[in-house]
Amino acid sequence: MPQRMTLITSPVFIPEAQLKKAGSFAPLFGNSNPLALEIGCGIGDFIIQIAARHPERNFIAIDIFNQGCKQTCRRIEDSGLTNILMMRIEARYLMHCYLGEQSLQAIYINCPDPWPKKRQRKRRLLNSDFLDLALYCLTDHGELNFCTDFTDYGESAANLLNRDQRLENMRPAPYSHYLGDYPVSKYMQRFLDLGQPIYLCRYRKKEGIIVDSPRLNKGFRLRWPKDEE
Ligand SMILES: C[S@@+](CC[C@H](N)C(=O)[O-])C[C@H]1O[C@@H](n2cnc3c(N)ncnc32)[C@H](O)[C@@H]1O
Repeated sequence: MPQRMTLITSPVFIPEAQLKKAGSFAPLFGNSNPLALEIGCGIGDFIIQIAARHPERNFIAIDIFNQGCKQTCRRIEDSGLTNILMMRIEARYLMHCYLGEQSLQAIYINCPDPWPKKRQRKRRLLNSDFLDLALYCLTDHGELNFCTDFTDYGESAANLLNRDQRLENMRPAPYSHYLGDYPVSKYMQRFLDLGQPIYLCRYRKKEGIIVDSPRLNKGFRLRWPKDEE
């Protein structure tokens, strides 16, 4: 279904052309603090909480859903936080085109689209190609945080992350239902209220790992179609 597109004019919203012109995120934030990325921020519940806890880090919140971006911008503005910027952009496109090697101190992926049917699973964001890209972009000791409400996705993600020798687990088990102080979005809370667990995976890139510049997957589009700009 096509999205209802409305113009986003918020000062915290960065159109791709502005990032291209700036060359990197540092001039847009006005400092070169370490960078963290939330992929698929929805309406911004998580990013507001995590950025408030880490004023020493800059955060980029991204989503491909126009209305979610708009709401997130409003919430960032209302929060008064100056360490978050929002973009409407696809994750792999941003990482490939604008985020370089060792550019991210943390990546957060919370409840990504589950693509529940067997034939849809190849569309899931977290797979071995994405993991190579994430590891390329992460700094030494950079965090890869992933959570899902979907059992099959939680188990397969934990399996993928746990067997990768380039990562170390920050938790005692491949995944955990214990969230501790991990911020909870309204979306996540809905499942918790129904007694359904969240599968949380928290891993860190080991020191000194060299990751080759990732290749683009077959079929991956490197630019937005005109009508989506
Ligand atoms: C199920 S929602 C979860 C939203 C949020 N993380 C939360 O917990 O409330 C998944 C979000 O990811 C976004 N999304 C899906 N694939 C994406 C991609 N490749 N790049 C950026 N955002 C994506 C969707 O538009 C949607 O807003």
